[in-house]
Amino acid sequence: MTSPEERSATLARRLRKRGILTGAWEQAFAGVPRHAFLPDEIWAPEAGAPGRMVPVGRDDPYWMDSAYDDVAVATQVDDGRPSGRHGRGRTVTSSVSQPSLVMAMLNAADLADGARVLEIGTGSGYNAALLSARLGSHNVTSVEIDPQVAGHARARLLAAGWAPRVVTGDGARGVPANAPYDRVLATVAANTIPYAWVEQTVPGGLVVTPWGTPYSSAGLLRLSVGDDGTAAGQVSGRAGFMLLRCQRAPLGGWRRYVDTSASAETEDSTTTVDLGDLVGLDGNARYAIGILVPELYQVEQHADDGSGEYTLWLFDANGSWAAADHTPGARSFRVSQHGPRALWTEVEEAYRWWTTAGRPGRDRFGLTVTPEGQTPWLDTPATPVTLDG
Ligand SMILES: C[S@@+](CC[C@H](N)C(=O)[O-])C[C@H]1O[C@@H](n2cnc3c(N)ncnc32)[C@H](O)[C@@H]1O
Repeated sequence: MTSPEERSATLARRLRKRGILTGAWEQAFAGVPRHAFLPDEIWAPEAGAPGRMVPVGRDDPYWMDSAYDDVAVATQVDDGRPSGRHGRGRTVTSSVSQPSLVMAMLNAADLADGARVLEIGTGSGYNAALLSARLGSHNVTSVEIDPQVAGHARARLLAAGWAPRVVTGDGARGVPANAPYDRVLATVAANTIPYAWVEQTVPGGLVVTPWGTPYSSAGLLRLSVGDDGTAAGQVSGRAGFMLLRCQRAPLGGWRRYVDTSASAETEDSTTTVDLGDLVGLDGNARYAIGILVPELYQVEQHADDGSGEYTLWLFDANGSWAAADHTPGARSFRVSQHGPRALWTEVEEAYRWWTTAGRPGRDRFGLTVTPEGQTPWLDTPATPVTLDG
């Protein structure tokens, strides 16, 4: 049987080969056994049941395999109260992030010896341990909103020999008591970047965070903090993280937000939007639309008769929804919408903005954050992303 040390060394080799594990991080990575941060029970997708998670114990080979594969490991579902039938989970609410993504973020944070770091989203404590191994525990503060998750992280960190400050609280407020920081590193995505993160970072410091919306997977944003209390920076690459609790999509089945009863009147039309551009969380159109259309969620329902037909259900969880039906080979598609917002009309307008702008990818987007709010832009702060004008 392969030992955890050998598995860790194999994973390190793979990351090194991809140029992701380098320099001072080599030693830190080798010194932090990832399996020591996994709970006795992790969660895995249920075979043949998309969207359902089942618990997997330490005695199952999947448990140790997950610890040393380059994958995220789900460690909590539904805020610790599995909401599916027979103890199944629906939504992952805490995880140990994917090693290659963890290293990409640590590289983006450009940490010098002795840097003071605030991590948002302690989760398992694995990343806090890596930071402690690299910078010393006294330079690391980490904040976790879920008291049980924070408690487990504290215990596992101590057992593994590190003692960073782990605070239980809402990371959107930062941790002012230990500020200022050279870096704020969020391992949870934000839609609206909390100004506290900028305020608690020294001028010349960095805020590194996944920035996205519930409508698409997030991009990795690197904000440079200026002397004037503002911060700006661009997205580079994908960073698929869950959103901050207060900014995430509503939990539970989407059907409860979409009223298709006979009394729900709809406005029906057709669209020539290429619906294929809206399938899957990773698409460039979805990143742009998510920025332009607030409070937007989507579920895809594919026909299981081999016809290739599917319906996109879009909703805002406040009574508005739209359904767009895709038929392979067709050039226009039927759309229905219902509720106070004309959700499809908003999406179509954002989609036209995206095509007119040359179908930009997520790496062309950036953000400026000030005490008053945030402004998304394309390529430079001089070209704000907006549907007005
Ligand atoms: C992807 S996990 C973090 C992974 C972690 N850094 C690790 O090494 O295991 C995201 C964590 O952020 C936490 N979280 C969500 N919203 C938060 C908030 N507002 N403040 C602090 N933590 C939050 C979640 O409970 C979850 O544990």
